[in-house]
Amino acid sequence: MARHLITSALPYINGVKHLGNLVGSMLPSDVHARYLRAAGHEVLLICATDEHGTPAELAALESGQDVATFCTEQYEVQRDLGERFGLSWDWFGRTSRPQNHVLTNHFARRLRAEGFCEIRSTDQVYSVLDGRFLPDRYVVGTCPNCGYERARGDQCEQCGKQLDPTELVDPRSAVSGSTELEIRTSNHVFLQQSLLADRIRAWVDTKDTWPQQTRSIAYKWLDEGLADRGITRDLDWGIPVDPADFPEVEGKVWYVWFDAPIGYLASTREWADATADDPQAAFDRWWRVDRGAHDVTYTQFMGKDNVPFHTLSFPATILGSGEDWKLVDRLKSFNWLTYYGGKFSTSDHRGVFMSDALDLLPADYWRWYLMANAPESDDASFTWELFGSAVNKDLVGTLGNLVNRTVTQVTRHFGEQVPEGGEPGEPEYELAQRVDERVTEYLDHLDGLEFRKATAALRALWAEGNGYLEEREPWRTVKVDRDRTACTLRTALGLVAGITGASEPFLPATARALRGVFPAVDWQQLVLDRDLARVELVRAGDPIAPPGLLFQKLAPEQLTEWEQRFGGPEGSPQ
Ligand code: MF3
Ligand code: ZN
Repeated sequence: MARHLITSALPYINGVKHLGNLVGSMLPSDVHARYLRAAGHEVLLICATDEHGTPAELAALESGQDVATFCTEQYEVQRDLGERFGLSWDWFGRTSRPQNHVLTNHFARRLRAEGFCEIRSTDQVYSVLDGRFLPDRYVVGTCPNCGYERARGDQCEQCGKQLDPTELVDPRSAVSGSTELEIRTSNHVFLQQSLLADRIRAWVDTKDTWPQQTRSIAYKWLDEGLADRGITRDLDWGIPVDPADFPEVEGKVWYVWFDAPIGYLASTREWADATADDPQAAFDRWWRVDRGAHDVTYTQFMGKDNVPFHTLSFPATILGSGEDWKLVDRLKSFNWLTYYGGKFSTSDHRGVFMSDALDLLPADYWRWYLMANAPESDDASFTWELFGSAVNKDLVGTLGNLVNRTVTQVTRHFGEQVPEGGEPGEPEYELAQRVDERVTEYLDHLDGLEFRKATAALRALWAEGNGYLEEREPWRTVKVDRDRTACTLRTALGLVAGITGASEPFLPATARALRGVFPAVDWQQLVLDRDLARVELVRAGDPIAPPGLLFQKLAPEQLTEWEQRFGGPEGSPQ
């Protein structure tokens, strides 16, 4: 038994997440956690909402709520959707909670004590009417490059040019529209990442098991020279700096990308505070290498845009603290899921969002489609056609078909119990061999965090069941050889029971329904490891309870209707 800490990138609070967000971090982290738990390991799966920064403020402004109320509401919405998607978080916290205030200020204090913080004065846009400094994207104006009139201070959406707000022609405040803007000088804390670059590089050098994509992103930044970065902001919403440690920047808040990854620890601390008798010890046991976390394997899941923050900036925070905190061991990053080759867009409501998806179909349909088509080696495009084929071919045609045929033949000819009689022979021996190979292949891919390959191996395992039934033809042999048929169906039931356990990481609700088919089985015995094929779960005479319909087939007209409703290849919804 090993110990696994698993985190997924913390979803921004600014609205319901789309399927691309789900498949890029939250869903695979859950599959991995479920797999490791089923394999008998100790697992802590942590997530939280990422609540600070400009996006949260802007979204609250748009919704007409004050930002704290907005965040509380959206937190509940995201937690509810995640739970309904079967995300088995041990804790789903909030970066705005007190635990994160404490830990963020702790790290900042340590970084200053270790000599990695510097106070620098910087020029920033101040809006007299709004009475506040404006972060880059709060300043809008005409693009000096292409003349677009609503360019943002960080980037022009029309020509893509990266901008500095001071370059904009006729700049104005995005908050009030006021043009009464001036440049004011203000102090900020800079984290001197340049001083930590060598240590970070030496650490990355040890990560030779990281995927190529991850390593090359990290080295690209290191080779270009790791820049110092400002980690405070002139905003109201955020984690206030502790004036006792940083009197020069009193009244400012920490930059969202400074506090958000510390949220992984803080959310764990929330969990410890809520559940443990000795919260400090429970927390340290996962995060402090010098206090019990030496045997923890820490795996992070994220979209590729998050990689620099997790391979460089967050490790800079950890390494610079001078304390023995856990660093990431395994890092799994994803490319983009697109909607018909274009971006999912929250503002245009283009694509499918977590709430939409659950309005249409239960979570397992989506979980399967998304993981079987995960954007692992490349970007992947969502299409209703691919979705329909994953459901109809795999779930209905392969898994559903296997369960349905097996249970129907059993109940029709032998009643609601596992058939007795007959002895396994060569066909059963050969089936066991093939199942064993599939299981090994499946577990190898799960261990390697290769989710698409894992789903292919799982699908092949389901198909072994159908192949066996077709070869043994119980519907025909029942008329001539009852013992042989009993053995065939008992074997098939045993395989379905094993498949129930094997499928659980991807299809938890379906696995629950399938466990109900076998009321007498002791599921504790089922460990998702390489002996899966050899465990005898079902016994002759055990009761069998037919499941309801596991999956419903999607008709072409249905898919066309959804495509029109959500916008298909042409892009805009109708
Ligand atoms: N909210 C960020 C995003 O969606 C991810 C933050 S990950 C964390 O891209 F580590 F910073 F929390
Ligand atoms: Zn432009």
